[in-house]
Order: sequence, then C-alpha cells, then structure tokens
Amino acid sequence: MKIRKCLFPAAGYGTRFLPVTKAMPKEMLPILTKPLIQYGVEEAVEAGMNTMAIITGRGKRAIEDHFDISYELENQIKGTSKEHLLKEIRSLITKCTFTYTRQVEMRGLGDAILKGQALIGREPFGVILADDLCINPGGDGVLKQMIALNEKYRCSVVAIMEVPEDQVYKYGVIEGKEMEENVFRVTNMVEKPDASEAPSNLAIIGRYILTPDVFDAIKQTKPGKNGEIQITDALLHLANTGMVLAYKFDGKRFDCGSVEGYVEATNHLHSLEEKKK
Ligand code: G1P
Repeated sequence: MKIRKCLFPAAGYGTRFLPVTKAMPKEMLPILTKPLIQYGVEEAVEAGMNTMAIITGRGKRAIEDHFDISYELENQIKGTSKEHLLKEIRSLITKCTFTYTRQVEMRGLGDAILKGQALIGREPFGVILADDLCINPGGDGVLKQMIALNEKYRCSVVAIMEVPEDQVYKYGVIEGKEMEENVFRVTNMVEKPDASEAPSNLAIIGRYILTPDVFDAIKQTKPGKNGEIQITDALLHLANTGMVLAYKFDGKRFDCGSVEGYVEATNHLHSLEEKKK
C-alpha cells in the first residue's frame, strides 16, 4: 500500500524559544523565508505523500492559516513584482490536503501520535517532527529514503544518526544488528538514557515510518521517561513482537528545537542559496 499520509505532531510549547513562542507556534519559526513546518511538508510531498495530518494545540492557528489562501494579501500583490514570492506555497497547497486535530493535554510524543489515529486510520504513515530539519541536496529526502525501506521490509522504520556520547540523553537511542549497510534491526531502544546506560550512540531523529499496529502498542504503553507516553517505548514493543528497523540516513539534520541548531540551519541554508546565485 502506498504511503499517502504524514503526521506532524505540532502541539508542543517550544519553551526553548520563549519569548518568541509565547504567541507564535514554534513550527512557524522561519529558516530564511519559510517556516519550519513547510520544509517538513515539502519533504513529505517529495516522498509521494498527499495528506498532511497535523496535531495542533491551543495557540497554533497560524499553521492552518499558512496552508490556506490569503485572499486579501494575494489580491494586493497580484500583478506586482512580489507575486512570485507566494508561488511555491500556493503550489504546495494544491498538491495536498491538510487535516487537523488538537492534542488537548501534553502527554508526550506517543500520545500525540495516538491522537492522529482518527486522521490516519489503518494504513502505514510517515511522521515528521518539524523542528528536526533534514536536507539532502541532490539526493532523495530522508522520508523518501525511509519509504523505500518500508516497501522492502513492510515494517516501521526510524531514522537514526550517530551523536557524541555526551548528547545521547537528548534522544531515543537504539541498539540493533546491522542487516545491510546503514540498516539495523532494532533489538533495544531507550528514551533519553544517561550516557552510562545508553546502548549505543545511535540516536533517533524526528522521522518515522510507522505501521498502524503502533496505535495499539501506544495504547498499551505506560508513561515512561518524564511521566510521558513515549513513542520509543511503543516501538520497542513492536520490535520485540515483530520487526522495527533503524536507518542511518543520507543527508544532514539540524536540531531547530535548539537556538544553536536553528542558527546553524539558517546559516547553512543561506550559504546554499548564495551558491545558487
Ligand atoms: C523526541 C523523541 C526522541 C527523539 C527526538 C528526536 O524527543 O521522544 O526519542 O530522539 O524526538 O528529535 P523530543 O525531542 O521531542 O523531546
């Protein structure tokens, strides 16, 4: 079955970016002239998806307005030299349908994904955490690479990268057996371990292809790290009862949930734009 739907958990507060995120969703922070979530939607469309399922929360309405027509603005700039500035987003909107539901209480990423069940139904789907910005200039996007693996092995896939040992506490960390180059069969995964307890330095980043049985696994998952329902714990259950793959992707990932990563992404994408000129 072709994967058509992509889930965007976007209910979080973005406290690391206060005060800017007081009245503005963190997913709307710009990298150059595009908001973070638009990069995610573009990656999903490139991977062949056409339905964006967005888990929002209070104060996130700017996301819905962004993926809509702005009649007044568009009328104003029609026929002027600025019209082309909206071309890309307008074309993106015509390529997909956007659906939304709210996560009413913040109970963790697993819970946010479970809220998406109503939008996803019983089919495999992608997940993008928009504050992880991934690029792979000249090659396939990360989600597209992962879909190819899902098509081959028909199971859930998480994207991973090597991180320094003193950084593992920020991530879900996997342990696995390498089955083919850069593809690991997961044997263990731990959410945000201390460096001393981490099974490896292979950290999960914000890209997942999930099979729909993940919803039942989440329902059975008890609160874990920080008292939250963790997707990492639900996926460990799927790994123990079936198969989950971890994939060391081609490309570059920026942690735009941190000010440092955000600035790095901005500088990197700016230098790529400059080179194009
Ligand atoms: C979430 C996941 C974690 C993963 C990370 C990637 O954590 O729980 O396993 O490594 O995303 O960005 P968060 O950063 O939302 O706390």
